[in-house]
Amino acid sequence: MKKPNETAVIRVLRGGEEHEFSIILRPLVAFLFLYVYSSLVILGSQTYHLVATLEPLVPVHQFDKLPSYYIFAGLVFIPLTQPYLHEYGEDWYNTSPRRLCERALRELPKKAGEQLVILSQVLMDDVNAGYERLAEMQVKKINGVEIENLKHFCQLVENNREENVRFDLEDERVIVLNYTSAKIATSKILMRHRIPSAMSNDLVDEKKFLETECGHSN
Ligand SMILES: *[C@@H]1O[C@H](CO)[C@@H](O)[C@H](O)[C@H]1NC(C)=O
Repeated sequence: MKKPNETAVIRVLRGGEEHEFSIILRPLVAFLFLYVYSSLVILGSQTYHLVATLEPLVPVHQFDKLPSYYIFAGLVFIPLTQPYLHEYGEDWYNTSPRRLCERALRELPKKAGEQLVILSQVLMDDVNAGYERLAEMQVKKINGVEIENLKHFCQLVENNREENVRFDLEDERVIVLNYTSAKIATSKILMRHRIPSAMSNDLVDEKKFLETECGHSN
């Protein structure tokens, strides 16, 4: 059994030729191995020395990073991370929401930047009445568009031009909100909870932000 950061040599037989790859093993070997393997087969017949640095779909650590969040109509959306699951205590593997936990440990990203977006909690208000039981579920689509990550999700909601905005969650659960009233409710809810911004800084559209900054200095 190899330990993290050891080098492993992998021999792969393709089209009757033997290809040799050497990779440096990082933690989460299973994820990385699959990735390295699938991206290497196409590369030809030399020996490759690769450091596997691809992230798993659900990040294991969040050191030095402020948590990402986006609040709309009191619904708090975040990307699923392992530290989030760790908040369920020492026995998080058994006590965290089963499906989220399984996805966190098993799923591989299909493209760079992909995140699982979940509705982590509901700040109660008339606008979201009845939706609090949908907390801890994954959100899959906004107005029929598949979500790539929290930033994409936030842009889809912010740029909504329909009268209603529709969220498709796992298990065929659907949230439909009147966009205008949801926007109004969002401001009220943020004020009530003294939350200064509906989204974390990493989601703020830089261009818009700059325009606002310039507006202030004039
Ligand atoms: C959505 O909310 C706005 C403002 O509260 C209201 O004027 C409008 O009629 C609502 N639309 C629907 C379809 O309920």
